[in-house]
Amino acid sequence: MNSGEDKITHPRRVRSFVRRAGRVTAGQQRALRELWPRWGLDEVSDELDLDAIFGRQAPRVVEIGFGDGESLVAMAAANPELDFVGIEVHEPGVGHCLLQLDAANLSNLRLIRHDAIEVLAGWLPAQSIDRVQLFFPDPWPKKRHHKRRIVQPGFIALLRRILKPGGVMQVATDWANYAEHIEDVMRQETDFERIAIDSGRLETKFERRGQRLGHDIVDLSYRLASAVR
Ligand SMILES: C[S@@+](CC[C@H](N)C(=O)[O-])C[C@H]1O[C@@H](n2cnc3c(N)ncnc32)[C@H](O)[C@@H]1O
Repeated sequence: MNSGEDKITHPRRVRSFVRRAGRVTAGQQRALRELWPRWGLDEVSDELDLDAIFGRQAPRVVEIGFGDGESLVAMAAANPELDFVGIEVHEPGVGHCLLQLDAANLSNLRLIRHDAIEVLAGWLPAQSIDRVQLFFPDPWPKKRHHKRRIVQPGFIALLRRILKPGGVMQVATDWANYAEHIEDVMRQETDFERIAIDSGRLETKFERRGQRLGHDIVDLSYRLASAVR
């Protein structure tokens, strides 16, 4: 499809993030330049070959919007039997995470610096992921911004593509209204069932911020049916 047709049939999509100007420190800049080739995954013409990337077949976890990545690096270090792919668009966060990842020298974590929607739609192979983590997604609290919330039926359709049968989506939020929104969306997704799991989630930067504001933290997990869809 050429770009002309693309513009006609697919009007610009509402994104779940705005590119913030956030200052990239000199150290983060160096990390983005020098450490990216080792830990980063760039778009390929086909899908990513996760077996080749990690050099093994292990249960795989994708984290969307890892922020500064500190909890993701700690989680990967604590779970060497799992392989992790972190997705984030915020450059300073990616730079910060690269520095942590390089210091920890983990072989089970790789980073993607791109819109997660496109990564789910085309970069990751179908039925390749065991768990998707979405910790403290941007809450977009104003009603007119609710359409920017990443959890929408279209997002769940993308998860359904990449999750293995029986795979899990795990969300945490400190915004009561976002938790209700997620429950509303998921009620319509009858092949996902609500479950209680302990994934060993570690406290994140935005979780601490929510706690300082006096918000309750809500953890919601859903398992995709294991029957053939
Ligand atoms: C509120 S922050 C939470 C960060 C981290 N998970 C934490 O709890 O500290 C949400 C993050 O999601 C990222 N994000 C939002 N939409 C995204 C998308 N479509 N693709 C990749 N990252 C996204 C933002 O850049 C931001 O860093």
